[in-house]
Amino acid sequence: MLDDMKRKAAWAALEFIPRHTVVGVGTGSTVNHFIDALATIKDEIEGAVSSSEQSTAKLKALGIPVLDLNSIDRFSVYVDGADEINPDKHMIKGGGAALTREKIVAAVAETFICIVDQSKQVPVLGRFPLPVEVIPMASSYVARELTKLGGRAELRAGVTTDNGNVILDVHDLEIHHPIQLEAQINNIVGVVTNGIFAIRAADKVLVGTPDGTKLIK
Ligand code: 5RP
Repeated sequence: MLDDMKRKAAWAALEFIPRHTVVGVGTGSTVNHFIDALATIKDEIEGAVSSSEQSTAKLKALGIPVLDLNSIDRFSVYVDGADEINPDKHMIKGGGAALTREKIVAAVAETFICIVDQSKQVPVLGRFPLPVEVIPMASSYVARELTKLGGRAELRAGVTTDNGNVILDVHDLEIHHPIQLEAQINNIVGVVTNGIFAIRAADKVLVGTPDGTKLIK
């Protein structure tokens, strides 16, 4: 059921993909459906910029050229999922540990289209533990600093990010001021990125529901 709603949101995103341009591609199970959809128009796009090794492998397997982000100044649409999204289109991301590259690719895109099933919609961010990518030697220090902000940081066992770092998942946060908290956590020495995507929020959200897909502009 959830997967069906993810699939609906992902395929609905095709309508927003301009032809003959580069497409930004996120990471996760919802995005995997989007990559399947994108493959149906692969001859009509220039290629994709990818946010993870996982998405890169799937894009290439389906014959979609993967381009180096450094070779592109700007592109029009980035499509990605989220772990939570609030009514201001602020998100928590990073459940798949790809948050840093996702934030980088999103920064170069003109439009961020978030594709989610309806279970991801929340009034206040924070029920989903906030992922924070950290330089390995700083993980204990950063965990102590995150405790001072009211959270409980847990090292994600057995996970190394595509950038060679670790993930701390921060539990028990109620994020009422996502823009401020995103900046504050990014200022802790040793943090590479945190999973609050609020300074650069989504522009459009496609929500998969049992009855179809809802567009939030
Ligand atoms: C990966 C992400 C994903 O977008 C997020 O975890 C949602 O994943 P899914 O589509 O599998 O529910 O941020 O780092």
